[in-house]
Amino acid sequence: MNEPTRLHIAIDGPAAAGKTTVARATAQRLGILYLDTGAMYRALASMALRTGTEVDNGAALARLLAIAPIEVRLDDGAQLGFRISAGGREFDESELLSNEVTAIVSVVAAQPEVRAAMVGAQRRIAGKGSVVMAGRDIGTVVMPDAPVKIYLTASLPTRVERRRVQLQRSGVDVDGHRLAEEIEERDRLDRTRAVSPLTAAADAHVIDSSGIDAEKVVDAICAFVAEGAK
Ligand code: DC
Repeated sequence: MNEPTRLHIAIDGPAAAGKTTVARATAQRLGILYLDTGAMYRALASMALRTGTEVDNGAALARLLAIAPIEVRLDDGAQLGFRISAGGREFDESELLSNEVTAIVSVVAAQPEVRAAMVGAQRRIAGKGSVVMAGRDIGTVVMPDAPVKIYLTASLPTRVERRRVQLQRSGVDVDGHRLAEEIEERDRLDRTRAVSPLTAAADAHVIDSSGIDAEKVVDAICAFVAEGAK
């Protein structure tokens, strides 16, 4: 029997560029599953906070993952579009997006031991079937053979506004929170880390979504998918 054809779509880009909205809407349009890999790094950051684990101690973070592996279940009906848990406890969106988690997640994600574990888990998910995966290193490292790769960007003011709306919707306090500084600092850390830094894959389609609504970006991605299927 022939293997069913798997459709893998990689969406990378800087913080708050609209990746999760676009990735989820693309997956819904194509009838396939969606995973925001940032949530996995955020879940580990949250576990580090709760257990008092040093956020730059890669070996200790890897031990935490070994004791309570992060489990992801792709589920279109869930609040996030998938379910994410560890040690039998499910994480919700407001915990993952909390200011405390956001402040440390890039340091956690820069640890080589953490990246090795996360990339392995993400590749296993991709190996199971069609998926739209959003992150920073999906087209370059996690799914380098994905037939459709998107690098999604937007201007800083656009990204600040999108993050503000997302936080308000999730009930996270944005008062006095320096969104522009936080986004720029996280981008700097994500772009300059030694292991799989944020960068566009050589074969990625770069889309600047400033001033374009998500549906138009989804149209463009679906056109790339249709082109690839010809
Ligand atoms: O997309 P996000 O803001 O939820 O991601 C949180 C952090 O996780 C981000 O600052 C960098 C890291 N990340 C990563 O290093 N690799 C990914 N594939 C996804 C996220």
